[in-house]
Amino acid sequence: MNQTIASSIRTIPGHPKPGINFRDITTLLENPKAFRMTIDQFVQRYMDQNITAVAGIESRGFVFGSVLAYELSVPFLSIRKAGKLPAETISQSYQLEYGEDVMEIHKDCVKPGDRVLIIDDLIATGGTVSAAIKLVRQLGGVVVESCFVIDLPDLGGSKKVQEEMDCPCYSICEFEGD
Ligand code: PRP
Ligand code: MG
Repeated sequence: MNQTIASSIRTIPGHPKPGINFRDITTLLENPKAFRMTIDQFVQRYMDQNITAVAGIESRGFVFGSVLAYELSVPFLSIRKAGKLPAETISQSYQLEYGEDVMEIHKDCVKPGDRVLIIDDLIATGGTVSAAIKLVRQLGGVVVESCFVIDLPDLGGSKKVQEEMDCPCYSICEFEGD
């Protein structure tokens, strides 16, 4: 794991509730060296993978995903929370700790056979990215990989996504004990 990147991420114990260590990427974004290293690491990994689009998950996935799409010179696709996208969409619900939420994507943004890289800041239970993978696949896209700045492996999301969704996961930093 990259120490410069990992140490630029602030940990806030007890947020949003006791017992949770919140991993805060705003401090990474405020650190130009760490932000550049993060993007460069993704660029190095994906520049020769024939990625045809980068799909970012609202909201923190947009920050990393748009820069990565720019660097790879491919389209940036928006996967957004329900009711935000203006044109025709498809929807996918996913589990939250309490209740459920819905992600959407524009129907016309993925072309059949597109090789899509999905990106978010963090994977915890994997529910959010699983919904994103289903949306891209429903439109005929091939999800080449899902990538994250942070994995919380103790929550089992990356293992589940690899095994149950048959989608590779790549993360730059892992924080154990969460
Ligand atoms: C957080 C995080 C990931 C998701 C991971 O987003 O940015 O998108 O949760 O959780 P999971 O793997 O258990 O599904 P959040 O829903 O807090 O929204 P935000 O990015 O808009 O802040
Ligand atoms: Mg998020």
